Amino acid sequence: MESKMLKPIFIAIFLLFATGSFAQQKQNTVSPGELWKDDQGNHINAHGGGMLYHKGTYYWFGEHKGEKSNNAYVGVTCYSSKDLYNWKNESVALAVEDNPESLIYKGCIIERPKVIYNDQTKKFVMYFHSELFRRGYEAAYTGVAVSDKATGPYQFLSAARVNPGYWPLNMSQDHRRLKLKAEDYGKWWTPKWREGVEQGLFVRENFYSGQMSRDMTLFVDDNGKAYQIYSSEENLTLQIAELSNDYTRHTGKYIRVEPGGHNEAPAIFKRNGKYFMITSGCTGWDPNAARLLVADDILGEWKLYPNPCVGAGAELTFKSQGTYIFPVQGKKDAFIFMADRWRPSNPIDGRYIWLPIQFENDFPVIKWMDRWDLSVFN
Ligand code: GAL
Repeated sequence: MESKMLKPIFIAIFLLFATGSFAQQKQNTVSPGELWKDDQGNHINAHGGGMLYHKGTYYWFGEHKGEKSNNAYVGVTCYSSKDLYNWKNESVALAVEDNPESLIYKGCIIERPKVIYNDQTKKFVMYFHSELFRRGYEAAYTGVAVSDKATGPYQFLSAARVNPGYWPLNMSQDHRRLKLKAEDYGKWWTPKWREGVEQGLFVRENFYSGQMSRDMTLFVDDNGKAYQIYSSEENLTLQIAELSNDYTRHTGKYIRVEPGGHNEAPAIFKRNGKYFMITSGCTGWDPNAARLLVADDILGEWKLYPNPCVGAGAELTFKSQGTYIFPVQGKKDAFIFMADRWRPSNPIDGRYIWLPIQFENDFPVIKWMDRWDLSVFN
């Protein structure tokens, strides 16, 4: 080809780049399970995520995953959006550290990060499930990090078990005093062992070291008090722990929810003064049926209800596991259920299942939708 002919082709290609014609097409719908591209055209990498709304912008935080491993080689990522359809990659909010002594050393496990904003300190506070490098899931720590800016960088503060030396508010004096150890209850899953779990066998075992915490979420109540909700006691029991006024610590005040109920992936919202929590069962990366828990007081009695998902695919939560529920700004009773369709053989390809929460008799109901937009809430 003559160089005279090549020139206009080069100019055309240059113009395409310069005018952003290769940029990501504007989205105006949510398509659960499809590839969700960010502003650079890459599938969003923010798994097990949570959402923060701050001054007109939504910030989505999640686990960065690779092609081969679910472990944290990068850290917690952040994406921002004004409309919940188009997402700008804000890069890494909390980076793993290069120092092998660090509790968040590259290759460790960081899961289910959530960020809340503290009105008094003007800081953004991130909590996450933290596991030590090459120690599988045995540490069962809660990690905490803070930042002056929503997008980070977050400064890592601590990773530890929860509330060492404190009893749950709703554990009886008799059960606190029991001397029985895990081995005294014999084999797992027998009726005797189940009774032991209900009586707080693992709470006692971890009393001095602190309570285990794996799958987790955060919730800020209308009065500004914040809580961490996490799978504790070998993932058998949920615990809800109050946070300090600056949100960076636990206060020692916590309750147990559904002892032995095997709830994971807690996600919570409040509507008309009632607290609703959607959880999953405990089957690793494989999906299972969701459950619903309802309470009038966050540290009060929680009542268990069946799967809030209905219709085709409901029994496996539409092949996903919940991670967060957030209110849509400017709309009444508008909540979005965020879930993950995990791909453990290629974790980076994990998909996002977001569905609107509908209400029937004031109870949340989730139905599959191939594609939807915010007008479903009108
Ligand atoms: C799931 C949990 C995930 C991850 C996974 C590891 O049950 O919800 O966050 O920890 O187990 O197998």
